[in-house]
Amino acid sequence: MNLPNRNTQVQLRRQRDGLPDAADFQMGDATIPDLAEGEILVRSIYLSLDPYIRKAVRGDHPGHVALKPGDVIYGRSVCRVVRSRHADYKQGDFLVAETGWQHYAAISPKKIVQRIDPALGPLSTAIGVLGMPGLTAWGSVAHLATPTVGDTYVVSAAAGPVGGTVGQLAKLAGARVIGIAGGKEKCEVVTRGYGFDVCIDYKKEGWEAALQAACPNGIDIYHDNVGTPLLSVLVKYFNLYAKVVMCGRPGDYHSGEFQGISLGPFIGKRAQMKGLVVYDYEKDMPRYLRVASTLVREGKLRFKEDHADGIENTPAHFLKLMRGENIGKCIVAVGPEKG
Ligand SMILES: NC(=O)c1ccc[n+]([C@@H]2O[C@H](COP(=O)([O-])OP(=O)(O)OC[C@H]3O[C@@H](n4cnc5c(N)ncnc54)[C@H](OP(=O)(O)O)[C@@H]3O)[C@@H](O)[C@H]2O)c1
Repeated sequence: MNLPNRNTQVQLRRQRDGLPDAADFQMGDATIPDLAEGEILVRSIYLSLDPYIRKAVRGDHPGHVALKPGDVIYGRSVCRVVRSRHADYKQGDFLVAETGWQHYAAISPKKIVQRIDPALGPLSTAIGVLGMPGLTAWGSVAHLATPTVGDTYVVSAAAGPVGGTVGQLAKLAGARVIGIAGGKEKCEVVTRGYGFDVCIDYKKEGWEAALQAACPNGIDIYHDNVGTPLLSVLVKYFNLYAKVVMCGRPGDYHSGEFQGISLGPFIGKRAQMKGLVVYDYEKDMPRYLRVASTLVREGKLRFKEDHADGIENTPAHFLKLMRGENIGKCIVAVGPEKG
């Protein structure tokens, strides 16, 4: 395959705390690196934009050091092997790998997250419902929350890839599932698209009364994708021994400071707080993929993706995610699937 000479990248322009803006990023241009023995050259197809990238850029996420101006922004992608100096990987293989936000990356196998079997579903799902966000949901429902039939199960950021998958897996396990999401359009995705029983728009006046009405028997399980402000309200409606899966706090990712919460009510409710780290479930990925790909194929596990096109539009799409305006898994298509 003839490769272009240049490699377009999205780089950090300045490192600072706070909600990122367009001036924090710059487009860069590098040569395509030569391969050392044991390395693979991959071409990015779909960049995965995820909330954790905000922490990683600041060096506040496991395995990532703070980026300096001019460094390529961290991130995974669905990519294709274009050259290989490693016996286990050949030209044309599809992978999910830590490529960063760029067209081409020379990687060692340590940077490979998974091989993609294109027969399992559309390639982009390997960074969404059939990838890390899906596995996060599986860890939450199958390993930590373990719902029983009739449980009232509440999920925040319910329109996103993690929340949407949590709710659908919980419903398949027999729970009554209540989503919480910001805005009418997201709530429609959650109920009509994903099939949750109810979705509460927390940006609408009177949302707490609506939540209370939707949970007449109290809350048994809460999958927390957003952190303090919502959690401190929801605890009022917890049943005794309610379980909380603590998954994410996107509002805190810009500074590394965690908003505090009063723990007294959790003692009163004898609540069980369970922290989730998706890496704990990597060994269970083959099982998750078997279950989830079948469900996706049968239309029993649905997903929504929020696509942008072109690497130059990556910062703007990421800023949309940072503002919580995405509906579904945030992806940037940067190259063709074929070739
Ligand atoms: N612990 C782990 O191992 C692990 C693994 C994967 C993901 N996560 C976490 O799980 C959560 C969901 O991930 P996802 O990929 O599915 O993301 P996502 O739901 O697509 O996007 C984040 C959503 O969070 C909500 N949100 C609430 N407060 C926000 C704020 N201050 N800033 C930005 N967004 C805010 C927004 O939805 P609404 O408008 O509906 O509130 C936003 O759309 C994230 O917190 C992520 O970091 C954790």
